[in-house]
Amino acid sequence: MDTIKYKFDDKVNMSMIKEAAKILQSGGIVAFPTETVYGLGADALQPDAVKKIFAAKGRPQDNPLIIHVADKDISEYVTDVPEIAKELMDKFWPGPLTIIFRKNEIIPEETSAGLDTVGVRMPSDEVAHLLIKELKHPIAAPSANISGKPSPTNFERCVEDLDGKVDMIIGYGDSVVGLESTIVDYSVDPPRLLRPGFVTYEELLQVDPRILYDEAKTKAGEKEIPKAPGMKYRHYAPKAPLFIILGQKDKVKSKIISLIELHKKEQKRIGVLAPTERRSDYEGEEVHFISLGSEADSYEMARNLFEGLRKFDDLNVDIILSEGFPEEGIGSAIMNRLKKASGYHIIEV
Ligand code: TXA
Ligand code: MG
Repeated sequence: MDTIKYKFDDKVNMSMIKEAAKILQSGGIVAFPTETVYGLGADALQPDAVKKIFAAKGRPQDNPLIIHVADKDISEYVTDVPEIAKELMDKFWPGPLTIIFRKNEIIPEETSAGLDTVGVRMPSDEVAHLLIKELKHPIAAPSANISGKPSPTNFERCVEDLDGKVDMIIGYGDSVVGLESTIVDYSVDPPRLLRPGFVTYEELLQVDPRILYDEAKTKAGEKEIPKAPGMKYRHYAPKAPLFIILGQKDKVKSKIISLIELHKKEQKRIGVLAPTERRSDYEGEEVHFISLGSEADSYEMARNLFEGLRKFDDLNVDIILSEGFPEEGIGSAIMNRLKKASGYHIIEV
């Protein structure tokens, strides 16, 4: 398949948005930017179009898609929106928060993977917003990566994964959040946080103190029990094995340095993922240091995480050593993705 590729430079080109919307209307699939990560979209109301997303990504059939809307009135798509969920929508929409509700008939089972619920999000990204408005239907979209790989946060990574597999890829700079949306489930009582993200658990609790989050605290080797179907699959994984070193700062540093020495002896190409402040501690001839950004800015580290993991693939390293981070605020989202990327290879020091 020939993929139409178009990247906006400094301003959005409405004729390309219209072309993308036409492709979606006629049952095609289009990768497009959002503020969280790039998405791979289809008209959420067309079952055959939605099926193409699963095929292009190699996505397991039992993994439901979330739908993206351009308006807070979602009564056509879901049966009931509790008052308190409306408060969340008012506070965080448009933005990186997905809310799960009981779905209406109009949402095909291909989109919801047979579940009677559907996740809904109203993106703040300009291109995403204009595309949904132009289509006049919600867009079903998972992250625009091949299943299992880290989510793409720019146009080039979408092209790397999806060129030749989708009808169109449109791009407009880097995703400003860099991690997928926070997901909260209002189809259950009490509501539950299923996936941490830019909108933090602490922020959600300020609106609805009943929300539960029971990510089993993961010790080395232990796995959490997935609540969102997609969270059970191997995820975000770079090609090389990734190990997270967790603990008090000085101990983490000396552990990483000793692991570097060990793997150097085995002639391995070593990747290290850590905040910029640690560059001079680790970087060396055999060590490829990728910076997450400043440790003083967790939002910057979140934004750089997936692109950093993908850079290790480009560098063809044999092993990746990553520092762990405090699990508070957006740190929980960073650690959630990093732990999955490591397959729960966590070394506590
Ligand atoms: O930020 C995002 O959410 C991005 C952008 C493109 O919007 N999308 C995204 O979609 O991350 P995806 O499919 O990669 O991740 C959605 C997660 C999956 O783990 C899926 O299993 C879960 O949400 N999910 C979707 N619908 C659900 C439902 N009805 N009940 C429980 N989990 C659901
Ligand atoms: Mg995904």
